[in-house]
Amino acid sequence: MTMEISLPPRLNLAQIPTPFYCLEKLSAQLGGPRIWVKRDDLTESAAGGNKIRKLEFVLAEARAAGCDTLITSGGLQSNHCRATALLGARLGFAVHLLLRDEGEFTEVPDGNLLLDYLAGAAVSIYPRSRYLKEHASLVSQWREHYLAEGKKPWVIPVGASDGHGVWGYFNCARELAADFRQAGIRPGKVFHATGSGGTQAGLTLGCHIHVPGCQVVGMAVCDDEQYFRAKVHADLRHWSQLYGYALDVDSLDVTVNDRYIGPGYGVAGAEVFATIREVAALEGLVLDPVYSGKAFQGLLAEIRSGNLAGESDVVFIHTGGIFGLLAQREQTGFSRPPRD
Ligand SMILES: Cc1ncc(COP(=O)(O)O)c(C=O)c1O
Repeated sequence: MTMEISLPPRLNLAQIPTPFYCLEKLSAQLGGPRIWVKRDDLTESAAGGNKIRKLEFVLAEARAAGCDTLITSGGLQSNHCRATALLGARLGFAVHLLLRDEGEFTEVPDGNLLLDYLAGAAVSIYPRSRYLKEHASLVSQWREHYLAEGKKPWVIPVGASDGHGVWGYFNCARELAADFRQAGIRPGKVFHATGSGGTQAGLTLGCHIHVPGCQVVGMAVCDDEQYFRAKVHADLRHWSQLYGYALDVDSLDVTVNDRYIGPGYGVAGAEVFATIREVAALEGLVLDPVYSGKAFQGLLAEIRSGNLAGESDVVFIHTGGIFGLLAQREQTGFSRPPRD
């Protein structure tokens, strides 16, 4: 018997359900399973991607708690921070972003960072080493700072990945169940980029309930399999503590493929940029080098190596990230054409 799980209050921010369709040309070219895409890059324009689904629930809680200031953190080109900045502006929250500079800071803000500034967020940028060493104390210092000013801050963890954020992709799994019914398919595997674990936590729980038998595969873009398995289970345990569902979350299968991380977080090899170019030209689908392109390149490599030969249909969730591509435009391989 499946367990009844009801959603907590959410703000209606994302354009959902998102489109779901088959990448016909690419699938035919590869000669493997049909590749279906869930277009979560279309959840909004500038605030789009996967984070808005989590923030619909997280910001509903912040608002219900009477908070007026959001504090969150991430990399300099964090999609999560950009989405928080824009949605915070839309909803009337002040937003403070604590960003980790890996040395990619440019004189003129680019990509996600440019949008953070446009959204009016306060931005504090820390060198990588200080951010990694002092992250927890920086967050609590800023929280104290706002409390001392009489504000009501709400701290959102990196990627909005915790028990609250789980709802975003739990909800997406319900959509997937309807998408599969409408398309008349029963895919065995759903792939997506995994970075802070929350998307995978929500999908793992949601598919368990709504699409039993469909395996969620997180394509790691930074840490290894062991890290993500622990993180996803921790987020799910937090969810079950917060909302009181007696589900043995530790028994849920968490599958992670960490073979396509490449040089490291935010750094993609030439094969990822080649995939980005090919998929954009063949299917009009734009991927990014940090998350979706890296994960999709991994999926294509798995298909080419015959590892998915037993599957008739596989699903890729496009989690967004286009602004990160713009920030790495030099590596796309295009230069100014000669004038006609
Ligand atoms: C575009 C994009 N895709 C995928 C992910 C991974 O999602 P999660 O952090 O929930 O693992 C992120 C954020 O980390 C992202 O910004």
